[in-house]
Amino acid sequence: MKKIAVFASGAGSNTAKIIEWFKNHPAIRVALIVCNNPGAGVLKIAEKEQIPSLLIEKEKFIAGNAYVDVLKESEIDFIVLAGFLWKVPPALLKAYGHKIINIHPALLPKYGGKGMYGLRVHQAVIDNKEKESGITIHYVDEKYDHGKIIFQAVCPVLPTDTAETLALRVHQLEHRYFPEVIEKTLEKST
Ligand code: GRF
Repeated sequence: MKKIAVFASGAGSNTAKIIEWFKNHPAIRVALIVCNNPGAGVLKIAEKEQIPSLLIEKEKFIAGNAYVDVLKESEIDFIVLAGFLWKVPPALLKAYGHKIINIHPALLPKYGGKGMYGLRVHQAVIDNKEKESGITIHYVDEKYDHGKIIFQAVCPVLPTDTAETLALRVHQLEHRYFPEVIEKTLEKST
């Protein structure tokens, strides 16, 4: 059994889809939800689904050992960032090398990097009059939104779009593809 920890800071709609997808999976299980925000909706989802959660503090995450001790104790094999807003520190990258992936709500390498999250991403796409946007699932490295790309899916940007309507369309793509891409990536990883 491979165990996933999902890191999330917000509402957790992707996390909910991931939990649902792996519920009766023979070889993969969502074993831990890691969150930095005590008010985040994702913690309620974890509680409802009876999945253990870990509320983390910045000091220990950034300057300490990045909770690697807790992750190892929980026998976590793979980490999925699903709307997690803190940068992944070197200690975590060292412990989980090619085993951390992230989803970004745009077509990287454009519209990524520090500060590019939430509606700001979609507003930038609209301001630049892009015809298409989409999602990128990628490995995590030491830079924001930078590691090797695993998967992208595209959707149109309509002339009438606001950041909110575009966000909805992109979110639908995330929900549709993210769990399946996690499964395929995990099956390939040793
Ligand atoms: C998603 O759009 C994801 O791409 C981004 O944060 C958002 C999380 O949404 N990194 P949710 O909390 O899963 O609803």
